Amino acid sequence: MTSSPPRPTRVAVLISGAGSNMAALIDAAQKPGAPFEVALVISNKPTAGGLAIAQAKGVQTLVVNHRLHGENREAHERAIDAALMEHRIDVVALAGYMRLLTPFLVRLWAARMINIHPSLLPKYPGLDTHARAIAAGDAEAGCTVHLVTEGVDEGPVLDHETVPVLPMDTPESLAQRVLVAEHKLYPRALADFCRGLQLS
Ligand code: GRF
Repeated sequence: MTSSPPRPTRVAVLISGAGSNMAALIDAAQKPGAPFEVALVISNKPTAGGLAIAQAKGVQTLVVNHRLHGENREAHERAIDAALMEHRIDVVALAGYMRLLTPFLVRLWAARMINIHPSLLPKYPGLDTHARAIAAGDAEAGCTVHLVTEGVDEGPVLDHETVPVLPMDTPESLAQRVLVAEHKLYPRALADFCRGLQLS
């Protein structure tokens, strides 16, 4: 007897800006046989360019504006979690989501929330990763997909891609090269992660 294939994992992508990684995830999800579907895109900023891209690709979007909650980070995260539950989301993929999460949301989504970071973690958590790699004289840079835990950019590494640092590189030119690698890495890492999940 053959068993039916597992259903695609329902992924929500959280963005704050251009959404090029989000676009790469949606494109990968829309290929036949993909183990995940992008069921929802949430932005904390109404002006995020990625919102229109997601809509053009037929993906539902939602703005959960952090400014409506003032200093109350948990209230903002409660609103995000409510949307995730309403859309029956299995996995959250942060893709250029520029708000630090509190332990409240991180604990609710423990082992089901991943992030992409533009450095070879554990090197260079936080901001300005490309300038720091150049200043250190690194021969290689890259990007990492990791599980989200309470420490910033500290969770277990799932996968990474490396790129060379070239002699004439500026932070901008290196960022561009790393971003191309991110678009290759994130769909692969998310697909592998989703294949390893036991969904009910
Ligand atoms: C990417 O470099 C990502 O690694 C970082 O923010 C950038 C977002 O770019 N966290 P985009 O919005 O996916 O184009």
